[in-house]
Amino acid sequence: MSRNTSGARIVLDTVTKTYPGQPTPAVEAFSMTAEPGELIMFVGPSGCGKTTTMKMINRIIEPTSGSITIDGRDILSLDPNELRRHIGYVIQQIGLFPHMTIAENIAVVPKLLGWSKEKTKERIDELLTTVELNPAEFANRYPKQLSGGQQQRVGVARALAADPPVMLMDEPFGATDPITREKLQAEFLRLQESMGKTIIFVTHDFDEAVRLGDRIAVLSDRSQIEQFDTPANILAAPANEYVASFIGRGAAIKRLVLIPITEAKLGSVSASPGGPITVSLNDSLRDALDALVLTGLPALTVLDRNQKPIGSITVDAISAVLGADIPTLAAPPLGHIDPTTAGA
Ligand SMILES: Nc1ncnc2c1ncn2[C@@H]1O[C@H](COP(=O)(O)OP(=O)(O)OP(=O)(O)O)[C@@H](O)[C@H]1O
Ligand SMILES: [Mg+2]
Repeated sequence: MSRNTSGARIVLDTVTKTYPGQPTPAVEAFSMTAEPGELIMFVGPSGCGKTTTMKMINRIIEPTSGSITIDGRDILSLDPNELRRHIGYVIQQIGLFPHMTIAENIAVVPKLLGWSKEKTKERIDELLTTVELNPAEFANRYPKQLSGGQQQRVGVARALAADPPVMLMDEPFGATDPITREKLQAEFLRLQESMGKTIIFVTHDFDEAVRLGDRIAVLSDRSQIEQFDTPANILAAPANEYVASFIGRGAAIKRLVLIPITEAKLGSVSASPGGPITVSLNDSLRDALDALVLTGLPALTVLDRNQKPIGSITVDAISAVLGADIPTLAAPPLGHIDPTTAGA
């Protein structure tokens, strides 16, 4: 991928956390490497250890054993405050300081780093605009004067303030409605294209993980990694029943989001009946399928970047793309009967 990166490499090596007085660890022997500029999604059920794993990276929680390095430096050898200034953190409960204005909340780390008033103010305006909050309207309000979703966006802005190479984001869009969430996801992806930070991002929403992640870690109890791979690979070949249940229904449709129309074998322009609805080369196969279902037409015209018709697409052509890489499943589907042994 030709992405700029300002990110750092994070390596967790057999990290375990046992909370005092607990018989079993919350996180057990967790090992993972996040490459510079990589956006890694953690998905897993409530209580499986996602937040605990994350908080060990910025030493809000100290590991019981194991090691964590950032760009080769053992985090336990760094001053914890210094470490946290270089890691943007969006906490699960938003956690804005209630007695500080929105502007003051965002300015916390810049202030610690000794930025000038002008530079700080400029950055606040820039970040509020990025998360779609008008600075003139919101900068001087207090957190309780904002909705939950707006507060979450301020949380994201605050974490980005000093442009840290590493971001830890614990369900940062959890309190927003689906439409705002989609907008924030799109904006976030656009930002990440240029920032290239190393990001660990926790979500309960598998679709969000597919949309945003370079790789997804599907976690079970004690932060055990059930599968760690690209969204496309996980959707195409879930490692086990547990992962499959997390994907839920509609894995094929979810995969289509990730595949550009250019992957399909297009028919001739004349094979489409034409009409007002067309799809573009930049669209995904999911967009094309949406449009086909919506119009009920057998084929739709595909336009290139100059709005010139270059071919047509059908449901069959879309299925063929999925069929081409249907993996040999690790386990036969439920109810499958092997003809070679059936009745033997
Ligand atoms: N301070 C603590 N003391 C004891 N146990 C704790 C503490 N914090 C968390 N735990 C336990 O550790 C386990 C993992 O908690 P964690 O917060 O990491 O889960 P999570 O995956 O982030 O869950 P959620 O999706 O609900 O946020 C849970 O069983 C939790 O009850
Ligand atoms: Mg959590």
